[in-house]
Amino acid sequence: MRSLLIIVILFTISSFLFSYATSDVHCVILTRWHMFVTNDISEDITVHVTSRRDDRGNITLPFQATYDWDFCETGQIVYAGQFWWGSKGQIMNLYDTEAWEACNNHKLWVTQHCYWLVRPEGFYIGTQNLPFPNDNWQFKKSWS
Ligand SMILES: *[C@@H]1O[C@H](CO)[C@@H](O)[C@H](O)[C@H]1NC(C)=O
Repeated sequence: MRSLLIIVILFTISSFLFSYATSDVHCVILTRWHMFVTNDISEDITVHVTSRRDDRGNITLPFQATYDWDFCETGQIVYAGQFWWGSKGQIMNLYDTEAWEACNNHKLWVTQHCYWLVRPEGFYIGTQNLPFPNDNWQFKKSWS
């Protein structure tokens, strides 16, 4: 009975906290993740972001444009991205345990931010959206 009361209180507090989140996704208890993919190639690229439950469709990104989405972490979510740039392409995970390791700041009750930068030589992950080159950007994969 007492633990039920505590759960109800926690639930109420976290709903209150997350009602201040700026985006449309509200996470109760779970951590909110906000993902960004920026095109740093001076031509259009196309990206298709999917998870097992979420197909976000084909998005065309002009030079310097950013596509972003958010979700509540459940511990099981994987987001993949399929990319096209002219005759080149690539498929890779944008959010998985590796991205979690690279991006999470170990703070509770705050939205975690994770950035991908798409460049002619390949794909970089970072915790901040800083101008390239910068130590923030970790090279992950080249175009195939
Ligand atoms: C998404 O875009 C790629 C590249 O232009 C294209 O090959 C593919 O058919 C598109 N997929 C859908 C579902 O429109």
